[in-house]
Amino acid sequence: MSIEYISDKELFHIKTKNSSYIFRLRKGYELEHLYYGERINDTRGIEFLSDDNFLGATLHAIDSEFTEEKLSTDRMLREYPFYGSVDLRCPAFHAEYRDGSRVTKMKYLGHKIFSGKPELDGLPSVYAKSDEAQTLEITMADSFTGLNLIYRYSAFEELDVITRSVTAVNTGNSEITLDKIMSCSVDFDNSDFDFVHLHGEAWRECEIERKPLVNGEVRISSARGASSHLHSPFFALANKNTTEFEGEVFAFSLVYSGNFELGAEVDSLKNTRAYMGINSFDFKWLLESGQSFTTPEAVMVHSSNGFGEMSRTFHNLYRNNLARGKYQNAVRPILINNWEATYFDFNEEKILNLASKAKELGIELLVLDDGWFGKRNDDTLSLGDWYTNTDKLPEGIASLAKKVTEIGIKFGLWFEPEMVSPNSELYHKHPDWCIHIEVREKSLGRNQLVLDLSRKEVCDYIVSSVSDILSCGNISYIKWDMNRNFTEIGSSALPPKRQSEVAHRYILGLYNVLERIKTAFPDVLMEGCASGGGRFDAGMMYYFNQFWTSDNTDAIDRLKIQYGTSMVMPSMFMGAHVSAVPNHQTGRTIPLETRGLCAMCGQFGYELDITQISDDEADEIKNQIELYKNIREVIQFGDLYRLKSPFDGEKTFFEFVSKDKARVCLFYFTHSCAVQCNTEKIKLKGLKPDSAYKCNKQIYSAEFLERFGFDTENLQDNSGKVYLFEIQ
Ligand code: GLA
Repeated sequence: MSIEYISDKELFHIKTKNSSYIFRLRKGYELEHLYYGERINDTRGIEFLSDDNFLGATLHAIDSEFTEEKLSTDRMLREYPFYGSVDLRCPAFHAEYRDGSRVTKMKYLGHKIFSGKPELDGLPSVYAKSDEAQTLEITMADSFTGLNLIYRYSAFEELDVITRSVTAVNTGNSEITLDKIMSCSVDFDNSDFDFVHLHGEAWRECEIERKPLVNGEVRISSARGASSHLHSPFFALANKNTTEFEGEVFAFSLVYSGNFELGAEVDSLKNTRAYMGINSFDFKWLLESGQSFTTPEAVMVHSSNGFGEMSRTFHNLYRNNLARGKYQNAVRPILINNWEATYFDFNEEKILNLASKAKELGIELLVLDDGWFGKRNDDTLSLGDWYTNTDKLPEGIASLAKKVTEIGIKFGLWFEPEMVSPNSELYHKHPDWCIHIEVREKSLGRNQLVLDLSRKEVCDYIVSSVSDILSCGNISYIKWDMNRNFTEIGSSALPPKRQSEVAHRYILGLYNVLERIKTAFPDVLMEGCASGGGRFDAGMMYYFNQFWTSDNTDAIDRLKIQYGTSMVMPSMFMGAHVSAVPNHQTGRTIPLETRGLCAMCGQFGYELDITQISDDEADEIKNQIELYKNIREVIQFGDLYRLKSPFDGEKTFFEFVSKDKARVCLFYFTHSCAVQCNTEKIKLKGLKPDSAYKCNKQIYSAEFLERFGFDTENLQDNSGKVYLFEIQ
């Protein structure tokens, strides 16, 4: 049993392989959090962790119903804090009621524990196969307002994670306005943590920031309509001495692609309250009598062995229990994308030449990027007009797809279906279909507007226009792009009192569209993109089997981007392409070997004009493709060990170990001043104990490689090398 209710203590114990999460009922109605951390096998006495001595200060008001015991919920660690009464810290829940009051007081009503895990209506969520998980649902009620809250916890014992979500149900007769409803909140009885999160920009995604918590609040958010390049919906609280390999980490990842907030508040007693959910800024949700609202899911991972173990837990969970469909467990094809090869300037002959050359080199899929539809010859027009641009492709997209398939490789196509260009037939026909406010000017981003996916007819249009193209039968892949954030947020289809629901309704609409397309075309491999990694989040991984990690294809910059992204995302989801030099984003010239090896650490592909390369380059590319085909299962399905970080010095090491530990790929990169560095012995991780491995005709024991390290050669700047180890 991974979830236990110990009735004499009124204690809830949620267990996974290595962690325990414990709280209890106080006075029959209040939930007090007791513990989150390494697994506890014997909980006797755990209630004495409670530190509920009343201090007597007015700062810590007493709940009148607790006066006899002199308890204060303002001092207590609380399971899911709601606003309005005795807890003046940052609440997880805030609502407004009919009389204008904002006081919520939830009391325990009951609970149930059951096998499996329910789906979240209309939202992506981690799923449980058969009896992989157990779920606890606690119902809390506010008799005064008729609001019920259901706190949902699922424990995945083997996968070592706990997922959480909350459902609000209006059982009363009057409307309730939800202002803030977090997916999870966890109180810790200390504040001695570093706050770790991922921030960035387009071309500089997922930089890792680590700072000690401060007294007061750290809050990270997105109000851009997408999870965004700027911040990822992930954070961790780590002990001061936690490293990649050692120490305790509490990590949180949100399965959501829209506006989010996350943070941690340290109170005057040095407790920390961590939380995560939909961004409460510019959010309100009107809950009419009988209606319910469910939050996105938060995933909690506890690791006692540093950030590396935290990431591997996320990777296993997201590969096995979030990704779906035919490609979930299939090797990803090696692709060529024409974007950096041609940009908008192509015709059928050019694309067919690329396809023939790709076939010759061993590439398995050609993706035709932007510019194939409407009158699209630059980025000022035609988004929304999803029919072939016959100036470029006179015989149509179906014919091109067929011809490419006949060459012997698969064909994929780019779409940006959530957008509309003001200069398009769609916009002229339906000017009110975009997100906008009637009387206001519409700001443009990349010359385009965002379609209003809170409207059903807009969602239907997207599904039917994308489906019409995909129905031609020879399209095996789509790249689904999204290249601007929201401004002037409003929907002409919603009444004034529901305008603050638009951003979340948009994401629900998007999930609905993606689900319908994924269901109708189960054999199509779907890649997500948002000007690179602008929406690379766990919500998207429910629909897309890979994601374009960044528009920055410079191999040395990519080391950092891919390292940071891998904190949560598995390598098999991270699109990584070899592009031309000088690099189109940075102007830097990096050897083809390094560019190839860096891209091999993700979902491998090319993005350059292969019809213009020399014979030597063609030979080298053939070798890269042969190598990747040989090792891709280790990279895509294996365990990642980040042995050395590009953020910390002049070398980066990534190690991939196959699940059966029989094969190991050690990638090694140098990125600055390396000529002066000595060779380095790098200690491998995750090998099979008591076994030996062969590399470059030499035999090494696993113990030797882990204890003393493997001696790598000295490389020049911007170089890369891969060492392959086979178990003997
Ligand atoms: C975005 C994507 C690119 C490419 C262009 C096409 O920038 O991130 O990969 O598809 O759009 O316009």
